[in-house]
Amino acid sequence: MPLKILFIGDVVGSPGRKVVVQSLPHLRARLGLDLVICNAENAAGGSGVTLSCYDDLRDAGVDVFTLGDHAYRKDDIHDLFGRSDRLCRPANFPPDAPGPEIVRIKTTGGVPVAVFTVLGRVFMNPVDCPLRASDRILGPLAESYKVIVCDIHAEATSEKQLLARYLDGRVSAALGTHTHVATADEQILSGGTAFQTDVGMTGPYDSVIGRRFDRVLTSNQTALPQHFDVATGDPRLSSTLLEIDPESGRALSIRRVMLDKHQIDRIVRQADWIPELPCPSFESATSPSNRRES
Ligand SMILES: [Fe+2]
Ligand SMILES: [Fe+2]
Repeated sequence: MPLKILFIGDVVGSPGRKVVVQSLPHLRARLGLDLVICNAENAAGGSGVTLSCYDDLRDAGVDVFTLGDHAYRKDDIHDLFGRSDRLCRPANFPPDAPGPEIVRIKTTGGVPVAVFTVLGRVFMNPVDCPLRASDRILGPLAESYKVIVCDIHAEATSEKQLLARYLDGRVSAALGTHTHVATADEQILSGGTAFQTDVGMTGPYDSVIGRRFDRVLTSNQTALPQHFDVATGDPRLSSTLLEIDPESGRALSIRRVMLDKHQIDRIVRQADWIPELPCPSFESATSPSNRRES
């Protein structure tokens, strides 16, 4: 049986959390999900994650939490690292950065899954090399984990494509986060790795990547500092559904799943309704791998 994993893109503030809390318990049952991973770097007021945000998302059915450049914005993260083994900080932060680099977990069916994050370096704060960090993380995992998911938290599409192709055949999925805009390029690379440049934002779409338009506009027009409050309008869930072969770790399909308010209301109200996923499933080609020249 293929493993079904839902990856939820950057959850932004209370509108994003609310969408997950409302929809995920229903989605989990209707889609038969084995594991849910969520990027929570913006969950608390748009920056960082707190204990209560974590609890809300965990109770809704999130199994694993990835972070990003905003990982340490709320002090609660230190308590969370001590309390939970379901969060990881980016693997290419400096070596002394607090928090684990990998989440190791078993699905309800007992399949071991490893999850880690690397940050990009283009248009972002300086961090260690994501390629070398990935090699360091993957070395010890190769023995015992077939199913591995990497969150590529980066700004530049080209860098994300580079990283995903570097990881092709070594991870089950390499999914981009951080830009808050879902890309329509979901695919399975020749080595069997599912890839999408960005999973997109779970939060308010009547906004500038989750923040109030008026605040961002004033900042641009006047150069005066502004509070970039989280917006509220048009909340949506943006996620990606993966089917993975648990024996080989290869991706079988990848599909974008975006739900707006009306679809979320319907999934809550109508117990037998399975959302019609608007985007087709991209399925694995049967041709043999031509991943790498040795
Ligand atoms: Fe980010
Ligand atoms: Fe983000």
